Amino acid sequence: VSEPVVYVDGRFVECSRAAVSIEDRGYQFGDGVYEVARVYDGRPFKMREHLDRLARSARAIRMDLRGLDSLERDALELLHLNGWGNRDLYIQATRGACPRSHCFPRDLEPVVVMTAREAHPYPPALRRQGVAAITLSDDRWARCYIKSISLLSNVLAKQKARDEGAFEAIYIRDGFMSEGSSTNVFIVEGDSLVTPPLTNYILPGITRATVIGLATGCGIPVAEESVSRERLLVADEVFLTGTTTEVMPVVTVDGVRIGCGAPGRTALRLFEQYMRLVTG
Ligand code: PDD
Repeated sequence: VSEPVVYVDGRFVECSRAAVSIEDRGYQFGDGVYEVARVYDGRPFKMREHLDRLARSARAIRMDLRGLDSLERDALELLHLNGWGNRDLYIQATRGACPRSHCFPRDLEPVVVMTAREAHPYPPALRRQGVAAITLSDDRWARCYIKSISLLSNVLAKQKARDEGAFEAIYIRDGFMSEGSSTNVFIVEGDSLVTPPLTNYILPGITRATVIGLATGCGIPVAEESVSRERLLVADEVFLTGTTTEVMPVVTVDGVRIGCGAPGRTALRLFEQYMRLVTG
């Protein structure tokens, strides 16, 4: 089996030969932004949306990222070199390499790294059973709309979930849920979907927007409203959305059973529609 090819700062190289400077500000400060896009059967899903969000994240941290067209060309070349297929395309842009100092030089060239690892979809049985989630206090900064590579809080939150046998950790800020450690969260009440509005405290998920579109398209009302932890626990259904998570039903939150403790029909219906869209 040949080694995966990765992209580092303008070059396509075998993964084990790839290297970046230890003075890269991504390494030293977590000073960078990223995207994850899913490739289904060689077709990148919502590629433009991901690149646009990367550009917005870059602008938000005052990083001068090069044109999206050239980034897209390099991403497609990387997918080609890795034989297309089903992949998680990771694109990271750090502010660049320079001697360590909090202030950044104005003329620094961002360093772009991309990988296209083979996707490992969750076993269908997991989605049929549904997953457990925990809640925890949202201790992140106030700019969660930026897809920053500084993910310490998210890493610790996800690990806490794993340690407690759960799939995802749902952040609660001032009594209201914001999002999961790497997903957006929806609840179902009766026939309607409710998900927190786009504020600075959540990432504007591309899967979130896609699912809202799908729901609206099949006549399911969607409200973008704050959802308290209490309201989350008594929802008829709860599900997560994300690029690699797709649509994942949650059947317990903090050990409390959601609905009848099995994936809800709205979540399953939206998952089916989502899969039709990504493979269509
Ligand atoms: N996570 N919220 C957070 C904090 C996220 O990190 C992500 C994505 C989402 C969902 O966004 P989208 O639907 O655009 O993927 C919400 C990616 C997949 C990751 O870090 O691996």
